Amino acid sequence: MGAALTVDSTLRCDVLIIGAGGAGLRAAAQIGERRPGTRIIALTKVSSPQKSHTTTAQGGMAAVDPKDPMDRPIFHTFDTWKGSDCSADQNVIKKVCDIGWEEVVWLERHGMHFSRTEEGRIAKRPFGGHMLDFGERMAFRACYEADRTGKGIMDTVWAESLKYGVDFIGQCVATELLFRDGQCIGAIIFRYPEGKFLAILAKATIIATGGNTRMYLVSSNCRGNTGDALVLALQAGLPVMDLEAVQFHPTGMVGPGILASEALRGEGAILRNKDEEPFMERYAPTAKDLAPRDLISRAIIQEIREGRGLFHQDHNAHHVWLDLRHLPKEVHEKKIQEVCSFFKRFVGVDPEKDLCPVAPTAHYQMGGIPTNEFGEVQSDSQGIVPGLFACGEVAAASLHGLNRLGTNSLLELITMGRVTGERVVEYLKDATDPEEPPGSRLIVFDQFSTYLNAQGKEKYAQVRDSLRNLMMEKVGIFRTEKSLVEAIEVLTELREMATHIPLGTTSLKANQDLWQIWELNNLITVSMVIAQGALARKESRGAHFREDYPERSDGFNYHTLVYMPQFNEVTFGKRPIDMSIFEAKGEHYELFDYIVREY
Ligand code: FUM
Repeated sequence: MGAALTVDSTLRCDVLIIGAGGAGLRAAAQIGERRPGTRIIALTKVSSPQKSHTTTAQGGMAAVDPKDPMDRPIFHTFDTWKGSDCSADQNVIKKVCDIGWEEVVWLERHGMHFSRTEEGRIAKRPFGGHMLDFGERMAFRACYEADRTGKGIMDTVWAESLKYGVDFIGQCVATELLFRDGQCIGAIIFRYPEGKFLAILAKATIIATGGNTRMYLVSSNCRGNTGDALVLALQAGLPVMDLEAVQFHPTGMVGPGILASEALRGEGAILRNKDEEPFMERYAPTAKDLAPRDLISRAIIQEIREGRGLFHQDHNAHHVWLDLRHLPKEVHEKKIQEVCSFFKRFVGVDPEKDLCPVAPTAHYQMGGIPTNEFGEVQSDSQGIVPGLFACGEVAAASLHGLNRLGTNSLLELITMGRVTGERVVEYLKDATDPEEPPGSRLIVFDQFSTYLNAQGKEKYAQVRDSLRNLMMEKVGIFRTEKSLVEAIEVLTELREMATHIPLGTTSLKANQDLWQIWELNNLITVSMVIAQGALARKESRGAHFREDYPERSDGFNYHTLVYMPQFNEVTFGKRPIDMSIFEAKGEHYELFDYIVREY
């Protein structure tokens, strides 16, 4: 091994934000606005916040315009509850749906260029599962900036963070959370270019690292979405929640799985099988191509399984068609121009003239680090961890339960970013500068020592590809006890292999092998929790579908908590589903019971 592992220096701040995407920077802006002068450090794994995964979000952000004569927040609240297959928390759904429009206005006033109607109002498009009158008709509820809504959001929250003097540290990862007497006091970070460890001591720490579906062969996620922060929480003895709920977006571009936004179907695109039949009519007679994603993804796989799919020779992958040929030229050129350009560039088809090959792509993690409705991280179903907060995709408050509606993610990261920022401002009132952490040996030093000293014959790409194929095949859209048990066995082997992969160089500086192997181990760890959670949940609900238990079961009306401080040493817990709207017995309360989910 080249260099000794030491913490090179210590920085201090009021708030450390791990992850500088939409959620983290919305929280930063809220803190800056409400408590000017707060010393905030935001970490990003990429070279600039503008390269965060939020930037890739295409279709829109759901919110009910109070001036809309037809839509109401209660419809959105109901759709989110129904969409979750009755597994999201009603206190969180209500809060987020009620303040959604305030956040659209906040973004707009801080510089975002939402697309507008001819009359100059913020334009809205339909998205799957968003309906009027409790499921009667399609709602126009997704506010958007053409098909690059995430970019508009990032431009806005980044500018706000700069205004309030947030310090950014790029190309770094948090490798360990620091605690003193049960309180989170910051994190150890590792900077890739210099290969140096730093301690950052903070009064409050917010985890906002986003999603983690890079363990699947086909994924819409950026390459850095490797679940690192979930592993930090697990290593600290904290639980993660509902990780078995992985969302597959129905329309990934065949091959790599780049997102072909649901906005395309919102604008009128139609899914067709090999006979060019618009097959969604058979699976969701009312919502058709705008049914929720879990349903459409299963329908696509069903079509393929029953021989009505197609096979793409170049990508060695099965697919169906997305038909955009009938959409007006103006829609192609103004509303979905970027996605169409991706089809031309990456798939070699012209959506104005050709059918586009699509297949489900791993897109979103509904579960995450459990928080309460204020973004405070939970140590179990009740307790909170002082000083530690989480928001955005990495967190599970839980707005989505086991299935998320499209455009509710941008809504969540912005609203929960603000709510969490607000809670942090409250927390800072009584918080004092943390003392140095107790001097125990860091877990990351043991991990890095193992990787730096590895002498095996295993190859990084071989282990990575085995993981991706395994997760796609055995822990994908359809699962069975057999497939999950097999996956758990293989994951144990892959974990062993991943610790023996020899590095090309043992320098700490800009060591890509080291960085990738650390990420790979994180992916394997998160995969194990997904598989274990999926095995334990002997029912089908939302995005979690068990072929051996195809129905939803009231026996599983709870959130799965998983503790795994050591690899595959799993303990389960439960968090009740919040039913506060149902329990309040107000208007329409009966719709917030465990209702039948049909579209
Ligand atoms: O299809 C999309 O544009 C994705 C939206 C979302 O995941 O919310």
